Amino acid sequence: MEGALIARDRVGVQDFVLLDSHTSEVAFLNNLRKRYQENLIYTYIGTLLVSVNPYKELDIYTLTQMQLYRGVNFFELPPHLYAIADNAYRVMCSECNNHFILISGESGAGKTEASKKILQYYAVTCPTTDQLKIVRDRLLLSNPVLEAFGNAKTLRNDNSSRFGKYMDIQFDFKGAPVGGHILSYLIEKSRVVHQNHGERNFHIFYQLLEGADKDLLGWLGLERNPQKYAYLIQGRCAKVFSINDKNDWKIVRKAFSIIDFSERDIEHLFAIVATVLHLGNIHFEEDSNGHAIIRDGTQIKWISKLLGAHLSILQEALTNRKIEARSEEVLSPLNVDLAFYARDAVAKAIYGRTFTWLVNKINNALVNKDSSRKTVIGLLDIYGFEVLDTNSFEQFCINYCNEKLQQLLIEMTLKAEQEEYEVEGIEWEPIPYFNNKIICDLVEQKHKGIISILDEECLRPGEATDLSFLEKLEEKVGDHPHFLTRKLADQKTRKSIDFLDFRLLHYAGEVTYCAMGFLEKNNDLLYRNLKEVLCNSKNFIIRECFLFSELDSRRRPETVATQFKNSLMSLIEILMSKEPSYVRCIKPNDNKEPGKFDDSLIRHQVKYLGLMEHLRVRRAGFAYRRKYEHFLQRYKSLCPATWPNWNGPAIEGVVKLIKHIGYKPEEYKLGRTKIFIRFPKTLFATEDAFEYRRHLLISRLQAKYKGFLGQRAYQKKRKAAIKLEACWRGALARREAKRRTWAAQIIRKFINGFINRKKPLCPENREFVMLSQYKYLLKLRDHLPQNVLDKSWLKPPSIMEETSEMLHKLCIRTLVRKYCRGVSVERRVQLQQKVVTSAVFRGKKEGYQQSLNQRFLDTRLKENEINPRVLQLIQGESIKYVTPVIKYDRNGFKARERLLVLTQAAAYVVEMAKIKQKVEYATLKGISTSNLSDGIIVIHVPDDNKQKGDVILQCEHVFETVTKLCMLSNKESLVKIVKGSLRFRIGSGKEGTVVFAVGQEPQVFRDRNGQLTVVSTPGPP
Ligand SMILES: Nc1ncnc2c1ncn2[C@@H]1O[C@H](COP(=O)(O)OP(=O)(O)OP(=O)(O)O)[C@@H](O)[C@H]1O
Ligand SMILES: [Mg+2]
Repeated sequence: MEGALIARDRVGVQDFVLLDSHTSEVAFLNNLRKRYQENLIYTYIGTLLVSVNPYKELDIYTLTQMQLYRGVNFFELPPHLYAIADNAYRVMCSECNNHFILISGESGAGKTEASKKILQYYAVTCPTTDQLKIVRDRLLLSNPVLEAFGNAKTLRNDNSSRFGKYMDIQFDFKGAPVGGHILSYLIEKSRVVHQNHGERNFHIFYQLLEGADKDLLGWLGLERNPQKYAYLIQGRCAKVFSINDKNDWKIVRKAFSIIDFSERDIEHLFAIVATVLHLGNIHFEEDSNGHAIIRDGTQIKWISKLLGAHLSILQEALTNRKIEARSEEVLSPLNVDLAFYARDAVAKAIYGRTFTWLVNKINNALVNKDSSRKTVIGLLDIYGFEVLDTNSFEQFCINYCNEKLQQLLIEMTLKAEQEEYEVEGIEWEPIPYFNNKIICDLVEQKHKGIISILDEECLRPGEATDLSFLEKLEEKVGDHPHFLTRKLADQKTRKSIDFLDFRLLHYAGEVTYCAMGFLEKNNDLLYRNLKEVLCNSKNFIIRECFLFSELDSRRRPETVATQFKNSLMSLIEILMSKEPSYVRCIKPNDNKEPGKFDDSLIRHQVKYLGLMEHLRVRRAGFAYRRKYEHFLQRYKSLCPATWPNWNGPAIEGVVKLIKHIGYKPEEYKLGRTKIFIRFPKTLFATEDAFEYRRHLLISRLQAKYKGFLGQRAYQKKRKAAIKLEACWRGALARREAKRRTWAAQIIRKFINGFINRKKPLCPENREFVMLSQYKYLLKLRDHLPQNVLDKSWLKPPSIMEETSEMLHKLCIRTLVRKYCRGVSVERRVQLQQKVVTSAVFRGKKEGYQQSLNQRFLDTRLKENEINPRVLQLIQGESIKYVTPVIKYDRNGFKARERLLVLTQAAAYVVEMAKIKQKVEYATLKGISTSNLSDGIIVIHVPDDNKQKGDVILQCEHVFETVTKLCMLSNKESLVKIVKGSLRFRIGSGKEGTVVFAVGQEPQVFRDRNGQLTVVSTPGPP
């Protein structure tokens, strides 16, 4: 509600207590109208709910709405029936006490609808179990059954409840509905036999005729046509557009089965309903003696069958009256009028009592046998104040009931107000209000009240009439300020009161009653012989309703008014012990039209419902009161000291708050737990300030919330990232650990392999060996000798030695092969020569090393440089090599320039055009050179005459020349490298010596000893 204080300009105030001019009826009506036109049918007066019938379906009774109001503080949400229901329920649960919700208002104002909605609310929102669902369904379905038998179409309401109903809903300690109990009040029996124009009898008659199947109707002796039944057509509107009897019949039938009605119950119940219809069609005629007789026995036969009563006894009972004269019983025939009266009386009696039986039957189905403690919420759906054109006994009872309830309300409200003031420690300011006890007393006081006087008239012997009753009233209560008759009235008012009328000044206004029929209605007599027939009926319901004990009893039965008074007393007693909530229903117009707000009609109801009175009581002290916590909670944002949180006691916070806002001392009072604000304007000013502040706060909150959302999203992402990182790191670590384990195994294996490497191949060393082989091979691949001369070779592990050797050989062989393939013919020739040179000279003669780099020429002189004569001489032999040499004479050692020509077969020493000496290779005895760097060659020839002796030559290219000679002669082995000196043959048996020496300068000379001395400079090896 606080929330909607804001909308007050458009929709008025939600609590009349907040009206500025709370005593003005106009302001009251304006507020009601404003709200009604906005479809806001509910308004509070404090905790009392005023409801205006919308006459259209509003979207405010949905499941969502029920959930919305469930468990919410009463003032948090706009006024609603659900708020009232929920509040009662919650207080009941928390304080374990009993409650009632009193729903009143005039016919058609929406009382029954309201009570049904409350019941639905409990059915939906209260906790329940599968077991308890049956109770819940029975509670809900008791309504259609009671409405079928107790409601009827009237001019004011198509579904008017023609009885008062009080229903207790019992809840267990968990707050689940576990049972119920219904009390009914004053069913309008007269309707069974008579309806005003435009009205109908109770719904069940029409439902039965419309909905029952053929068999049932046949069994009951009924026809499917309400026009055939005298009791159904007096209002001339058996068929009503807004009522679907056929459909309602189905609902009632279903309800019967859920409320535990047996087939027998149902059969006998409808037998009674049919009996009433047949009774209505009995027609009496006058016989010659003026006595009533029934000519057409059809109806009575059916009744006899349906009630299981003897036909003739029944017939006799309907046309005669049994009179007890002293100890005798005499039958007195009835005249036609009395017969009709008796017939109607029996119809009313059996219907009325059957209704009571029905209520009891439903109560049996709702009873909760569990003896555990229960709390209850009572729903009282009772007729409101009734003022008709002609007000009779029924209106008298109804209005008396409303007086009593008004008294209860005033007392309870005042009591509650006073109690609240006391509890809160606020000084009680007496509230002026009208106490209607005086009217109640007028009606109900023993011996002096109207009911007592009426009873007296009914019971007294002699001819009592309605008029005599009226006179008695004048006599006994004539001086009462709230009582008036034509006789007692002054000149002016007399006109408005008829001779048989009396007027009561009720709290809600004056009502004029017509005393006619009071006595008869109060007596509600049924002739004894008819009662006997009913007591003997085979219909068990009738038997239960009419007990023999009643016949035997000598006491007169209680009159209707006394019965009603007593039941009302016990109702008030029931209510007094409970906490009250009130719903006041208002009918907005007489045409059942939505949206139409009939001012005068409503003003009338506002008055009769005592709403202004109630408002005055509520507003006498303070317009608004709230617990400190709630007040602080709502308005704390208005004061820096209390915003955002107040940590001290709420009262201190409120004091700070109102001081800050600037409340004046006369505007408020501080109770123990509540603040009381005297004027609505103070509250509205606070509310306006709050509204402004709220806007500011909301924007701030929105910003904060957006920030929070951003932060939350960021945190979420961050967490996710951290998680991912952790997972990834974990994965990496696991991978690394796996790798390390693997590595450790490998290393272990490796070490093991290393330790066992020398053993023959076995599992321990296999891998290591293979690895080292592999490694060695890999390394070897990169360190292979690059050429044939490269002698390097990677040292193998011991296990690979053999392989290595083989590989080495293989490699060398490959290199050699490769080398050889790359060698040209010319180079091969060179090499072949060098090989020979090497074989001959290597390590033996100085200059050998240098000679290796010197290319051997094919020849030093070409053929064309040789004297043709010589060529001619050696024709036939191909010249292989020619070089200039110095030949030393064997005698005298004179140096002479010559050519050495080597052919295939022989070596020639040539001088110009002469061949000086020819040495055939075949005869060649040897070739000598020194170990020094001189170029001396001595070709040793055989020791025969043809030869001149050994040839001493000196040539520049000693290695080349000797090699060629060796190769051509194929006499390598004959070459001798001498040290110091050599002996040579001069010819004819003589020998000479060549001495080799080392000196500063190379020279060749004949020394004193006649030896050829060859001096050479020391050279490289
Ligand atoms: N809250 C509501 N929403 C819509 N229609 C409603 C509401 N309350 C009442 N009505 C309409 O008003 C009609 C009369 O209501 P209801 O039967 O409850 O009146 P009542 O006060 O019980 O009258 P009576 O005293 O004759 O029993 C209903 O049939 C329904 O059409
Ligand atoms: Mg009703």
